Amino acid sequence: MAATPSAPLSVDISGMRIKYLDKKELFLESDLACREPIGQFKVWFDEACKTPGILEANAMCLATASKDGTPSCRYVLLKNFGKEGFRFFTNYSSRKGKDLAENPKAALTFYWEALKRSVRIEGLAEKISASESDKYFHERPRDSQIGAVVSHQSTIIHGREELAAREREITAQYENKEIDRPDEWGGYLVVANKVEFWQGQSNRVHDRIVFRKADASEANGETTHLGEDGWVFERLAP
Ligand SMILES: Cc1cc2nc3c(=O)[nH]c(=O)nc-3n(C[C@H](O)[C@H](O)[C@H](O)COP(=O)(O)O)c2cc1C
Repeated sequence: MAATPSAPLSVDISGMRIKYLDKKELFLESDLACREPIGQFKVWFDEACKTPGILEANAMCLATASKDGTPSCRYVLLKNFGKEGFRFFTNYSSRKGKDLAENPKAALTFYWEALKRSVRIEGLAEKISASESDKYFHERPRDSQIGAVVSHQSTIIHGREELAAREREITAQYENKEIDRPDEWGGYLVVANKVEFWQGQSNRVHDRIVFRKADASEANGETTHLGEDGWVFERLAP
């Protein structure tokens, strides 16, 4: 195995800094498309999907933590969302699956660099129904279905050949047959209780508006605004 390369990096990391949006695109409370976060997310997500240079607008970093609080994060793909929550699919026996089984608290972060926008979501993750997982599993390309059967995600394997051999075996086993969804593969719904919208500004005085589930009685103060569907929203210092 190669030793750590001794040549210096081509960049000075501490000096890496890009210029943000030239034109000021302030994100004010009056710019909110909705007074609840799911509608607002829909507007930003749609803009991200239409923006050249954002290839996977649905890529989001999922943070979980084990029962003892050890954090871990990785990217997953958002597959659906609505007022009920945000859905992604994975292997229930993976590290994230084990974390969520013992601690359902989860956080999701999107970063859409070309728009200088980020959305942070916090909430509780729950497994979706087996029938909903079946439906999505069978909508996926056949290769992806085989991949889900082949890979016991996050387990240690001897090398690529082990996977390749299993892939050949599973492909032969299911020739001309519908592939069964493995019990360990399925979806989660993250039911949000906090959603933050971050808009970067060229002068670095960024905008942050955060929605949180709250008792309506505490809203409509000087800094806390009453939203809809049990949400209130506030501005945070950047
Ligand atoms: C852009 C991107 C999208 C990904 N989407 C998924 C996904 O939707 N589901 C999934 O299980 N893994 C996905 N992965 C792989 C995960 O990041 C991760 O390697 C895998 O789920 C194992 O994570 P864990 O060991 O923490 O459970 C994706 C990786 C990248 C870079």
